[in-house]
Amino acid sequence: MKKGLAQTLMARLEALGRISDEPGRLTRTFCSPAMHRANQLVAGWMIQAGMSTRQDAIGNLIGHYAAEHRGQAGEKVLLLGSHLDTVRNAGKFDGPLGVLTAIACVQQLHEKKLRLPFAVEVAAFGDEEGVRFHKAYLGSMALAGTFDTRDLKRTDAEGITMESAIQDFGGNPKQLATARLNPDRLLGYVEVHIEQGPVLEKKKLPLGVVSAIAGQTRAHLTFNGRAGHAGTTPMALRRDALCAAAQFILEVETLAKNRADLVATVGAVQVFPGVSNVIPAQAQLSLDLRHAVDDVRRSAGAELRKRARTIAATRKLQVDWQAVSETAAVQCDGSLSAVLGEAVKPRQKTLVLLPSGAGHDAAALAAVAPVAMLFVRCKGGISHHPKESASEADIRITIAVMGDFVQRLAALHYERV
Ligand code: GLV
Ligand code: MN
Ligand code: MN
Repeated sequence: MKKGLAQTLMARLEALGRISDEPGRLTRTFCSPAMHRANQLVAGWMIQAGMSTRQDAIGNLIGHYAAEHRGQAGEKVLLLGSHLDTVRNAGKFDGPLGVLTAIACVQQLHEKKLRLPFAVEVAAFGDEEGVRFHKAYLGSMALAGTFDTRDLKRTDAEGITMESAIQDFGGNPKQLATARLNPDRLLGYVEVHIEQGPVLEKKKLPLGVVSAIAGQTRAHLTFNGRAGHAGTTPMALRRDALCAAAQFILEVETLAKNRADLVATVGAVQVFPGVSNVIPAQAQLSLDLRHAVDDVRRSAGAELRKRARTIAATRKLQVDWQAVSETAAVQCDGSLSAVLGEAVKPRQKTLVLLPSGAGHDAAALAAVAPVAMLFVRCKGGISHHPKESASEADIRITIAVMGDFVQRLAALHYERV
């Protein structure tokens, strides 16, 4: 019996889940050997769905399904997709679900020999999580034309620059501008994503339309103290960088708990020299701060910066605060989201609109195009974890909604011309 699109998609998620840079767990980072294999596999699926494929200058894989009057000057493009990179020890759904539902959506058109009045492109972005170079949205920023070329000098944990990583991957770091999509041709960007939270499961609904994406501040802090002998230095004479960092981390938690809907995370800490009998001379930490209202996030950032300085001064240390990135909160496009909502309505008892605390490629694309997002119910709200999952039944509904959505968009397009 021929497999259904949802069953095929589940098998594809499993296949991608086995493509990792680390044995025994799923970790696939920007421009890595695993990403190369993932791009090859996904390109094959895009071709089966009737698309031509290209890998752009930063290593994003793009599939193109031509419009009915193909090659026409000024042909509009509807962009669908998500990312193929993962966090460390990731689940299989965050990112790939959006890429694979987009491919399934095109596959439906291809099987029915249908073309739309606009081209459909599927983007499989090479970096959304920012794991390798501690900067998120590298792939989608290149498409949006907002990539900051100074970031090419960033180095990964092995000291490899982003520039040479892109070059070795087969990209072209000197020609990143060629990855930019012409915004005049972009009808919009629509991304399917696992919810990564508990709201839809609680409401017993498979799908939700995203209203807005929270803004993010990421920073890198370094506390510099003084190394010393763990056995001979009295407590009062120490300048322990890790103790300062620990105090700061707890202040981050307290501040976030006391401001409605603010979330703040220190997810990475490095201690030098990192030896049990030496007082830590240096502690480096990451800070990730999010809120749907930019002013709330910015004032919390300023407050934490002040507190870091106070902690350092009190303990006779220095602290260095390096801004890594700042992404403003993004409102999803009303018209595009309304069409998405119309496609959802016949398939579940109520339509919910919900904000996203997680960052998404849609946030980067919003700089140049209307964006909309569809969330799929997530088991237990678990994400960024190997147990992340969504059901085949919900994915079947998602594929049907996306098929309906592109048809509705095509009908609106015809009405306008
Ligand atoms: C991406 O998953 C993020 O929100 O950190
Ligand atoms: Mn993620
Ligand atoms: Mn994601």
